[in-house]
Amino acid sequence: MKDLTTVQNYSYSTEKVFADAEDFFPINGTDYVELYVGNAKQAAHFYKTAFGFQSLAYAGLETGIKDRTSYVVVQDKIRLVLTTPLKPDGDIADHLRRHGDGVKVIALWVDDAVDAYNKTIERGAKSYQEPKEMFDEFGRVITAGIHTYGDTVHIFVERNNYSGTFLPGFIPWKSEYNPPSMGFRYIDHMVGNVELGHMNTWAKFYHDVMGFANLVTFDDKDISTQYTALMSKVMSNGNGRIKFPINEPAQGLKKSQIEEYLDFYQGAGCQHIAIATNDIIHSVREMRKHGVEFLHVPGEYYDTVGERVGIIEEDLALLKELGIMVDRDEEGYLLQIFTKPVEDRPTLFFEIIQRKGAKSFGKGNFKALFESIEAEQARRGTL
Ligand code: FE2
Repeated sequence: MKDLTTVQNYSYSTEKVFADAEDFFPINGTDYVELYVGNAKQAAHFYKTAFGFQSLAYAGLETGIKDRTSYVVVQDKIRLVLTTPLKPDGDIADHLRRHGDGVKVIALWVDDAVDAYNKTIERGAKSYQEPKEMFDEFGRVITAGIHTYGDTVHIFVERNNYSGTFLPGFIPWKSEYNPPSMGFRYIDHMVGNVELGHMNTWAKFYHDVMGFANLVTFDDKDISTQYTALMSKVMSNGNGRIKFPINEPAQGLKKSQIEEYLDFYQGAGCQHIAIATNDIIHSVREMRKHGVEFLHVPGEYYDTVGERVGIIEEDLALLKELGIMVDRDEEGYLLQIFTKPVEDRPTLFFEIIQRKGAKSFGKGNFKALFESIEAEQARRGTL
């Protein structure tokens, strides 16, 4: 496997880093993530205040949209679209009723949306939206969409001939409230939870339909505690900018966190969005200051972490104070932390990750992490 440094730096080389990925249509990165939420105005305020996003764009009644409101917030390469239906009927309201707040669209930035759509449909994808051209005074955008797990979809966005704020139909959202960035840079990976027995189906979908490669597989021996277990396959596109781990529950003595998610989300969906930062200590300190709640890491974790990961640049006492975990692989180490769910249902949460050479996903932290999640589940009565 070739060096992935270019990926972490998010430079747009076309270098192929995973030899067995097909990359029959290039993906330049995550274009945006759209969440359907109960109250987009308040959600936008939350992501600005607690996560350091900035106002970017808006669409709603004032722009001639009658059935929904969308706020777009941005932090470096990350764009979140927060959408709320204005009426009780329709797809957005149905989605919200069933799933609660959650990820609807994982949009992928491509050079040719029609080509991406045609090729994935040919290879067996189910159509969500036929190619659509949109214009305004800033140019042209073409989008097209396919279904993935659950009610989640991918939209291919071709925006090489567009210089507007976000997309045609959106106006710039000017706000006097602009909290400072928390140092987030780009989306490192996005994880899908799928039903028991469906992990391979969706791994195969990403392989066959999208041309992705299987980067790594974790079985229930890697990811299990005394009570619960899960299995995971990490799928990646050829240049490594898009990484989608797919989780399914495995047999355990008690209900796994994946089953809890599936129960509350009412099916498969996006479990977490992992955001890369260059300074996790700064990011987490600021997030905590602004009220973000993280999973508790037991103090004993830090008694042995030094032996496990060896020498690191950061002060362990500081990591312990902030609850940041560390793991090492052959290529370096990584620092990571997980928020509690960001809505009332125990469904979507965020990971903050800083990679220092490591390209893995924190396998050495799985046990401590899952025990922490189980403690939360026990408090919710869902273990
Ligand atoms: Fe993750």
